Amino acid sequence: MAVGVRLPMLLELWLLVLARLCSEAADGGGWRQAGPGPDVAVEERCTVERRSDLTYAEFVQHYAFLRPVILQGLTDNSRFRALCSRESLLATFGDHLVRLSTANTYSYQKVDLPFQQYVEQLLHPQDPASLGNDTLYFFGDNNFTEWASLFKHYSPPPFHLLGTTPAYSFGIAGAGSGVPFHWHGPGFSEMIYGRKHWFLYPPEKTPEFHPNKTTLTWLRDTYPALAPSERPLECTIQAGEVLYFPDRWWHATLNLDTSVFISTFLG
Ligand SMILES: *[C@@H]1O[C@H](CO)[C@@H](O)[C@H](O)[C@H]1NC(C)=O
Ligand SMILES: *[C@@H]1O[C@H](CO)[C@@H](O)[C@H](O)[C@H]1NC(C)=O
Ligand SMILES: *[C@@H]1O[C@H](CO)[C@@H](O)[C@H](O)[C@H]1NC(C)=O
Repeated sequence: MAVGVRLPMLLELWLLVLARLCSEAADGGGWRQAGPGPDVAVEERCTVERRSDLTYAEFVQHYAFLRPVILQGLTDNSRFRALCSRESLLATFGDHLVRLSTANTYSYQKVDLPFQQYVEQLLHPQDPASLGNDTLYFFGDNNFTEWASLFKHYSPPPFHLLGTTPAYSFGIAGAGSGVPFHWHGPGFSEMIYGRKHWFLYPPEKTPEFHPNKTTLTWLRDTYPALAPSERPLECTIQAGEVLYFPDRWWHATLNLDTSVFISTFLG
């Protein structure tokens, strides 16, 4: 009798645990927190092509050296995504030191903090009045020895460019934060959790911006005055999507939620 009662109870408990795990994946791995909403419905504007069936030949011919593109369905990173839930990352890496950068164009300062302290104290929606050089951001400077057990589960986009070596940069950033305009070599950036809006200009079109002001400030103060022909390419990418940016394209980002993301730079 006692066994007959206990077994269904255990089953029910297990189902509850399972349901909770599943809903965590669906609602953003326990990370989701929307940011201070931009005045305009920024996530509705998209001028970057989305491709779900791109071959390597098409990628090289139409995008690799010419323009950005959003790639869908190239790799399955569901295992990596599950390992990147808030609970899982805190359990595995909570006491590891992470190196934080300032969220301005030139990232002057670096600060080392335990990962758990970053997540619990700094990963809140960004104050719209703050400056990029006063905002600490976890992106890049990853210790690949300590985090190897996580990164070995990531499948990068399977497109390589001749003469380049891929290098990962992993990050988690608060809603409303983002790095203002800057440029570097070509690469991919994949969203694991959350949404991120991208603004992009070709190398010859240097945008007008202040290197210490946030993307949110630029969006509010500068963007509305741009003539249609001066507007950047832009789009919001969602979990599972990958943005490709070609060599030396200017780009600025705005995290619309708490975002977990990983870039593959083709250096
Ligand atoms: C951030 O930049 C602003 C303006 O560029 C400057 O006035 C301020 O001192 C900087 N903050 C820090 C912590 O350096
Ligand atoms: C940006 O902030 C840094 C320090 O955080 C400061 O040294 C630099 O002068 C600032 N740049 C501008 C253009 O204000
Ligand atoms: C990475 O972590 C390992 C193990 O904790 C440590 O020995 C090493 O110095 C770290 N590397 C860097 C570049 O911080």
